[in-house]
Order: sequence, then structure tokens, then C-alpha cells
Amino acid sequence: MNILITGGAGFIGSHVVRLFVNRYPDYYIVNMDKLTYAGNLANLADVEDKPNYSFVRADICDFETVMGVLKEHHIEGIIHLAAESHVDRSIRDPFSFAQTNVMGTLSLLQAARNYWESLPEGYEGKRFYHISTDEVYGALDFDNSFFTEDTKYDPHSPYSASKAASDHFVRAFHDTYGMPTIVTNCSNNYGPYQFPEKLIPLFINNIRQGKSLPVYGKGENVRDWLYVEDHARAIDLIFHKGRIADTYNIGGFNEWRNIDLIKVIIATVDRLLGNAEGTSLSLISYVTDRPGHDLRYAIDSTKLKEELGWEPSLQFEEGIERTVRWYLDNEEWMRQVTSGDYRRYYEEMYSNRQ
Ligand code: NAD
Ligand code: TYD
Repeated sequence: MNILITGGAGFIGSHVVRLFVNRYPDYYIVNMDKLTYAGNLANLADVEDKPNYSFVRADICDFETVMGVLKEHHIEGIIHLAAESHVDRSIRDPFSFAQTNVMGTLSLLQAARNYWESLPEGYEGKRFYHISTDEVYGALDFDNSFFTEDTKYDPHSPYSASKAASDHFVRAFHDTYGMPTIVTNCSNNYGPYQFPEKLIPLFINNIRQGKSLPVYGKGENVRDWLYVEDHARAIDLIFHKGRIADTYNIGGFNEWRNIDLIKVIIATVDRLLGNAEGTSLSLISYVTDRPGHDLRYAIDSTKLKEELGWEPSLQFEEGIERTVRWYLDNEEWMRQVTSGDYRRYYEEMYSNRQ
């Protein structure tokens, strides 16, 4: 199978690319990524020379280029992860979220439709898999309720609104044109290669550097955390075995109040750095809350377990230990990302090629 993965240089995308390239030597994997601030080819250094992998730097909004790549590589499956993904950025700059997440997804859908409908076999054997988020469902109270696949969409941030719109377009392409689509909505991911603007890598890095830890509001908001490799495994399973036109929620039944999670991170980093217990607790600094801050997310992934047998493989304690170790061991990756050096390198590399 020839598969296009979009956003493969980002956090989750890089884990999906790595899994597919290594697990399926008979597949050909094309990674299309614009390399925004969040895209970093260093995330894929271990697979870049594999014969079943290639990288294309392109914007998914560039319809002609997307069409060209689909045709050139005879793409049969698309796993779409490219997106603007950070809520705080979406509050500052909602336009770029509408552009990439909505218009970019539409561009990809329309290109796939044009290409697949031009083939003698049409949509036979094709698959458009859209990766979405639990944030489209809005926010839950502290009442033991969960988001299921039937929960009504109720997005609150420009990020979640743009993801919701993109989900609707994907489903519309199935209903209107018969495109074989699948949508999954996953909870918060954590693990190696996450850009340090998101809570977990940001806080690990700040603790290491003795910088303050900005806790929004009272730190009472709850998120449901899943180790990124477990998400990648779910994507693999659903891409191959998921029912067309269906939706699956992905989550680990692993809810944490931010402040409790932050204390686990502090304890783990302090222990691994050899600091006395509690050393970095003084770095906690309560700051003004995020506007429209969703109170609680919690995913019910029973359907995925019952229909396809997926379950998270890692206990949270093990996942967080692995994650903290990875960031502490990969100081150079963190230095490049936080200094912006990785971007200068790509800008030079690409300007030399033109
Ligand atoms: P990320 O920000 O780390 O990576 C996004 C990638 O997309 C980057 O490599 C970036 O360069 C690329 N990209 C951005 N705009 C592009 C464009 N116009 N054209 C081509 N490439 C572009 O994001 P992530 O955390 O890996 O999330 C990946 C997907 O998973 C997103 O669709 C996100 O909504 C979804 N998701 C994320 C989480 C999470 O916790 N991180 C949870 C559920 C769902
Ligand atoms: P984040 O990693 O940005 O993911 P999302 O907003 O998609 O859930 O944030 C996770 C939680 O941590 C969220 O409730 C906001 C909170 N948070 C802070 O308290 N301080 C921070 O500096 C960041 C980045 C997030």
C-alpha cells in the first residue's frame, strides 16, 4: 500500500510514521509536512534513510502540490495529522487554525476525491483517515461523565472549533461522494518529541532549568492522558480494521487534575536529577487562567476496545517515567527546539535547493 501521512514531522505524526515505516516494509510511506514551528525532521532521524519512506515539504492547503503527490506516488491511503494544534496559539491567531485545519483538510479531501475518482477502480481499496481530538466535544463537569462517539459537538476554543469543522467536512465527503473515511477523536497525548509549548514537555524543561511553572487558574482542570505510542498503535489498528464512515474515541481512562499531574512531574524530574524530594515544588506559579479553559476531558474508548480489542499498553506511572527520562536524556533535541536552531537549519537547507 502507498500511504500519505500528513504532519509526520510533528509530535504524534512522527510516531505514526516510525511505526508504519518499521512495521510495514512492503508499504511506501510519504510524509507531507510544511515544517511549521512544530515540524522537526530530527524527530524522524532514525527512519529518514529507509527505502520505503520519503519526505515532501508541502502545505496541505496547496491543492496542486497535494494532487501531484497523490498521483506521483499512487496514494491509496491517507492518514491526516497535519494541523495547528496548540490551544493557546489558537487564542492569539485563530486565522491560521481555520486555514490549516479547515481549508487544509478540505484541500486534502478534494485532492483525494479528484484523484481517486479518476481511477478505474474509484474508491475501492482507498481510505481517508482523519485524526481528531476529544476537544471537539467541549467540556465535562466533575460528574463521572465521559465523551462517547455520540456526544454532541460543542467546541469552545478556536482550535477545537477548527478541528470540529474539519471533522464535519470529512464526514460530508463520505456522505456526499462516498469517500471511505474514518475519524478518530483522541484525548491528550504525552511522550517523546512533543513540542515544549504543551504542558508536560514545557514543565519538564522548566524544572530542569529552574524556571517557574505557570499553572493556569487553580490547576483544577482535568485532562485524560494517553502515551503517544499507544495512540499510534490505535491508529495502525483502526487504519487497517476500522469500519468505514465510522468514528472511534481513543483514550486511556487516565484522568489527572493538572496540579496533581504537575506534582508527579516535579517528583519524577527531581528524583531523576538527584534533587531532594520536593525541591522544585517552589517553582509552581499560579497564573491567569486560559480564556474559555475547558474544565474536564474524559474519553470513553469502550467501543474501540470491544470492536477492535485495543487497550493502552502502558500504565501512566511507566509512561511518565519514560517521558521524563527521554526529555532529560535528549537535552540537545530540547536545546535545538527551544533555541529555534532546527528552523534555521531547514530554512537554509530548503533555500539552497531552490
Ligand atoms: P504538532 O503540532 O506536534 O504537529 C503538527 C504537524 O503538522 C507539524 O509537523 C507541522 O509542521 C505540520 N503542519 C502544520 N500545518 C501544516 C500545513 N498547513 N501543511 C502541512 N503540514 C502542516 O501536532 P500533534 O500534537 O502531533 O497533533 C497531530 C494531530 O493529532 C493534530 O491533527 C491534532 O489535532 C491531533 N491530536 C493531538 C492531540 C495531542 O494531545 N497532541 C490529541 C488528539 C488529537
Ligand atoms: P496543553 O498541553 O496545552 O493541552 P490542551 O490545552 O490541549 O489540553 O494543556 C494541558 C492542560 O494544562 C490544560 O488544562 C492547560 C494547562 N496548562 C497550564 O496550566 N500551564 C501551561 O503552561 C500549559 C501549556 C497548559
